[in-house]
Amino acid sequence: MPDFIKLIDDLPKAELHLHIEGTLEPELMMRLARRNKVRIPYRSVGEVRQAYAFSNLQSFLDIYYAGAAVLLTRQDFFDLTYAYLERAAADNVRHVEIFFDPQTHTERGIAFEVVLDGIHDALQAGQQNLGISSYLILCFLRHLSADDAMATLELALPHRERIRAVGLDSSEVGHPPSKFTNVFDRARDAGFLTVAHAGEEGPPEYIREALDLLKIRRIDHGVRCLEDTQLVAHLVDEQIPLTVCPLSNVKLCVFDKLEEHNLASLLDAGLCVTINSDDPAYFGGYIGENFRQTRKALGLNVTQLQLLARNAFKASFLPQEQIARHLRTVDAVFDGIVA
Ligand code: HPA
Ligand code: ZN
Repeated sequence: MPDFIKLIDDLPKAELHLHIEGTLEPELMMRLARRNKVRIPYRSVGEVRQAYAFSNLQSFLDIYYAGAAVLLTRQDFFDLTYAYLERAAADNVRHVEIFFDPQTHTERGIAFEVVLDGIHDALQAGQQNLGISSYLILCFLRHLSADDAMATLELALPHRERIRAVGLDSSEVGHPPSKFTNVFDRARDAGFLTVAHAGEEGPPEYIREALDLLKIRRIDHGVRCLEDTQLVAHLVDEQIPLTVCPLSNVKLCVFDKLEEHNLASLLDAGLCVTINSDDPAYFGGYIGENFRQTRKALGLNVTQLQLLARNAFKASFLPQEQIARHLRTVDAVFDGIVA
């Protein structure tokens, strides 16, 4: 049997589904709460971790938005982002496309630029010091109104060159993609690419809406697509990528256990599946841990691991020549490994 731990360590990785607010480790949360004199309902790191037992997406989001209250200054956003990049470098992540949720912060009176500048400074430092390339994706909170999303888009327009795409996250059921058709029209007109969370808890119909109305380039999660065979055929034909987050799906009870996750079925269907960590500080593992646990639980083989690693670069928004360069580094890892 191949040494899967080493193989996964060695894999050059691209991470395409990562909420920067979801990388706030309890230790940093406590440190920032002290530094900024913000009250949080926990007395210790242990208490914070104990609170991380979720029954569905909403039960997580309530705690996730409360935790973000410790983030106030440009330095805080820098520290948060740089800590993630160091962790990602340890997992051999070479490229990352990071979500941020400006409304979580502007709602609390933090300026859009404070958030963007802090994250952007860290991404530049990550490129220089760690060799990780990156793009930023602005996510609209779908539980808020379309008007609120449009106002947030207006705030982003002067910073177009620092934001590659817009996306849609937060509470899915009851907030279909169609609610944001006008916002996404305007975003695409302004030159942003588009993605959306769809088919995590919501039905396959939301995936269709995201494709048809929001003209998305990737689906975040998308695991419920298998309930609609015609939709799967379309996703396979067009090779629309799915950014799947296995440990997140188990923590939020989309699947009861990792052994029951449908990732292998998605791959078998010919879908362009990728593995990502979503909110690693809350869900028990960064991208490497997602690879290791999923590999073991589903018995993934060498060929499937190579496919997953290749898919992530192919599904990225990098220019074609950079994708080709990364694919060669992935393939080099598999040279001489017997499948
Ligand atoms: N789904 C929806 N919203 C989110 C998620 C997620 O997995 N993570 C952070 N915000
Ligand atoms: Zn997500």
